[in-house]
Amino acid sequence: MASSIPVIAIDGPTASGKGTVSQRVAQHLGFHYLDSGALYRLAALCALRAGTDLADEASVAALASGMKIRFVDGQVLLGSEDVSTAIRAEEVGNSASRIAAHPAVRTALVALQLGFRCAPGLVADGRDMGTVIFPDAGLKVFLTASAQARAQRRYKQLIDKGFPANMLDLLKDLNERDARDSNRAASPLRPAEGAHLLDTSDMTAEQAVAQVLAWHAASRSL
Ligand code: DC
Repeated sequence: MASSIPVIAIDGPTASGKGTVSQRVAQHLGFHYLDSGALYRLAALCALRAGTDLADEASVAALASGMKIRFVDGQVLLGSEDVSTAIRAEEVGNSASRIAAHPAVRTALVALQLGFRCAPGLVADGRDMGTVIFPDAGLKVFLTASAQARAQRRYKQLIDKGFPANMLDLLKDLNERDARDSNRAASPLRPAEGAHLLDTSDMTAEQAVAQVLAWHAASRSL
């Protein structure tokens, strides 16, 4: 039964370090990993490519439910195309945040996300993993960091991937995206009840991973 399979839900704002921490925790435990943001980015990429109006909820939801996607060896495949790099562009991230406000788009992606819950366990990273998608998760973490620390991380990520980046623009985009993700009516970004709060502004990824693993071990011994 799916509900007996453990889930660690890690939610938080953009560039809070969720992806790195979640992947390392999953690797350490031998768990599967769900990058739910990638699903919203994929839907946004499909809409941008199709020239669909991002405000057209029904059309974007139809695109989202028809996507043929696979995660293979760290690659994100759309059909047979590797779009791992394309979905990381800032335009795609901002568009993902816009379409994620549509309830029909969120509904279209629910079954896909639940399908990642496989033995021996799952680390799920996103905005509503602990509140909406896996409310029975055995461990819920809300990861944050100051806007300045997050903008610096995003800057480094983009430059490392060969994308152009500007700190002031990034800080502005990040604040706008936080506001949109937190203030939307459908599954807004907020800590789940009982979530452990972890501010990683002055932490290394290793320290954050160690803290999540310690909470996980404690939750298993309850
Ligand atoms: O985590 P990310 O930056 O890759 O996510 C891109 C956008 O997708 C984010 O701004 C909001 C949306 N998102 C969401 O609404 N719910 C999720 N579970 C994951 C992402």
